[in-house]
Amino acid sequence: MVAIFLFVMCLLVYSTEAQVQYKVFNVNDYGANADGNTDNSVIKAFLKAWSDACRWQGKSTILIPQGTYMLKEVIFSGPCNAWMNFKIEGTLKAPSDPYSFKTENWINFRYINKLNVGGGGTLDGQGSSAWETNDCTKNPNCRPLPTTMKFDFITNGNIHHLRSINSKQSHFVVFGCDQMTFTKLRIIAPDESPNTDGIKIGKSKGINITSVTIGTGDDCIAMLAGTRNVLISDVFCGPGHGISVGSLGKNEGEEDVDNIVVKNCTISGTNNGVRIKSWAVQLKKTLMASNFLYEDIVMDNVQFPIIIDQDYCPHSSCQEDSSVQSSVQISNVAYKNIRGSGNSEVAASFKCSQNKPCQGITMDNINLWPYASDSGSLSNVCLNVNGASYGQHNPPSCI
Ligand SMILES: *[C@@H]1O[C@H](CO)[C@@H](O)[C@H](O)[C@H]1NC(C)=O
Ligand SMILES: *[C@@H]1O[C@H](CO)[C@@H](O)[C@H](O)[C@H]1NC(C)=O
Repeated sequence: MVAIFLFVMCLLVYSTEAQVQYKVFNVNDYGANADGNTDNSVIKAFLKAWSDACRWQGKSTILIPQGTYMLKEVIFSGPCNAWMNFKIEGTLKAPSDPYSFKTENWINFRYINKLNVGGGGTLDGQGSSAWETNDCTKNPNCRPLPTTMKFDFITNGNIHHLRSINSKQSHFVVFGCDQMTFTKLRIIAPDESPNTDGIKIGKSKGINITSVTIGTGDDCIAMLAGTRNVLISDVFCGPGHGISVGSLGKNEGEEDVDNIVVKNCTISGTNNGVRIKSWAVQLKKTLMASNFLYEDIVMDNVQFPIIIDQDYCPHSSCQEDSSVQSSVQISNVAYKNIRGSGNSEVAASFKCSQNKPCQGITMDNINLWPYASDSGSLSNVCLNVNGASYGQHNPPSCI
């Protein structure tokens, strides 16, 4: 009896082990050099580790141990055989010269199902010398600077416990992805660094961002066309340009934005708080931006705490033609329990399209006061807005 029992136990242990087949692929075993200067792209240590791990039949970890690894632009591509864990314990350092990049990304993950990127390490984009080459405010055909980490067509991704500093352009970009979480990230760049969006999302769905601290030079989080089912919670944003949807409605064929929840966030020292922006461009098809909830949000010294701008035009790059109105229909946007201080005269500013007035905008318990205690009170602006107000309001609601 005992012998049979032990035999069965051994079989069980053996079969679970056979099933897991977990393996670590350490980039140092592939000749990676952590002196901070040697270009690790030359020997392709990271790519070789990735390709072995990707081919491995079980779960695998690509380990980047402590140390500083200089790495040029790299694409980690799937599909892979099993769950991929990219564990960055050390620091990855980008080349500082922006002209050494042939593509728009530094570290690019593509076509992977079940991707985990974490490890407590740092992504150092070395952006400071690149920022002065950014002439996008003057040059509409400006050459895009690389994104620190880009995710293309990833499903079931978990990005966590990382620090991203001084990206040349955006820190993280999410495109064509489904079911991803971003947690415990620290995203840092100076407030004057141009276009250094924290997390930029487009054509993706099922994205959760929680317990993330973002201080950067552009939007903390930007949600572009085709973004659906996003939950943003426990995010600290500032400095930066706030949590934004858009800009939408510039080009034909953009996809709708739907179901965005922003909850329990603090926005501090930014120019915008929660913003929805669209271009005043006549499109053949109406673009829908609907079902937004902004709840339990603290504003601290924010220039425009609540803003819908359907006449968005940065750097005055558009022709002044008031007959052209935005083709984006904004509807069902709820603002609930938003409090704190603003530093312009405006608390909530709704400038909706004349052709497509905003529908179902609700304000519930909004308390916004001037940051400087001696400067009177704020006011709200409403243009082409339909909706309702509930609860207490300071300043008085204009809906
Ligand atoms: C995002 O959070 C919601 C609510 O907690 C949960 O239902 C959903 O599964 C989460 N999505 C992902 C990709 O983790
Ligand atoms: C989220 O809510 C918790 C509990 O009220 C609070 O401690 C935390 O500071 C909030 N987070 C942000 C970013 O506001």
